[in-house]
Amino acid sequence: MNSRVTVKGVVLVAFVLLHAPLTWAVERAEVEETARLLAKLLESGRAVIERNQPLIDDPHKGDKGLTPELFEAELVREFRAKSGIDLSALPTAPVSVVLPPLAKELLPALVQASREVVRDAQVVINQRGIGYKNFIPATWGSQASARFSKSAHIRLKQTALDARNPKNEPDEYEASVLKWLAARPRAEAYVSELTEEGQTLRVVMPIYYAKDCLACHGEPKGVLDISGYPREGHKEGDLAGAITVTAPLSNR
Ligand code: HEC
Repeated sequence: MNSRVTVKGVVLVAFVLLHAPLTWAVERAEVEETARLLAKLLESGRAVIERNQPLIDDPHKGDKGLTPELFEAELVREFRAKSGIDLSALPTAPVSVVLPPLAKELLPALVQASREVVRDAQVVINQRGIGYKNFIPATWGSQASARFSKSAHIRLKQTALDARNPKNEPDEYEASVLKWLAARPRAEAYVSELTEEGQTLRVVMPIYYAKDCLACHGEPKGVLDISGYPREGHKEGDLAGAITVTAPLSNR
């Protein structure tokens, strides 16, 4: 390395060191709030698919009427119930709606990706004569998060220890948090941490099994469920997995 360190360089470094913690803290708060809301929005979409599951799986009905527009309306309603935020009012929202600019940009992008997955699944959903179509909250969620993550610089994912879908396999960080969560009693909260020396914010929102999930993920362990996977033998309240968000921080 060059030993000629200029005064200007030293001054610049000192300036950055003095000011970084403040802007950084602001940015972390903004990214964290956005990440939390994105996870909540994905959770809302899963709930909408779950609610419509009997309709989707009805073998006697062709056109189900579950259009992308209807899905979006239900998604927006579900998210408002969960978060108090009305996404349909965002473009004209008064200043009193306190949302970080990043969230204002990315929440609509996730709504768009969510709706596109339902649009592309219309042929599957509207099939007559077939009950189970493998269009369930998890498949919808895997596709919506992948589609969103392709165009955003923030990565959204559904994951689980011993994931059924190999694309949902946890990375090292996610696996360690999932193990930590699995060993604890159910908590509603989420885990949020800076990794890679503060360059990346990771948010993990746990999902727990409800009774309805056990038809596929419960007992008898090892016996194939309707989707063709061996049941995991889980019980109500067990950790099912998580929705995770990985966001780079610019460290301005
Ligand atoms: C009809 C059977 C069925 C039901 C009911 C079901 N799941 Fe799943 N689950 C699956 C399948 C199939 C996958 C793999 C999806 C994919 O291909 O991405 C999966 C994947 C998942 C994943 C992502 C990690 C992975 O293994 O790939 C989570 C988390 C999950 N399920 C949680 C739940 C929860 C929570 C419920 C209840 C609210 C539930 N599941 C209900 C069949 C089911």
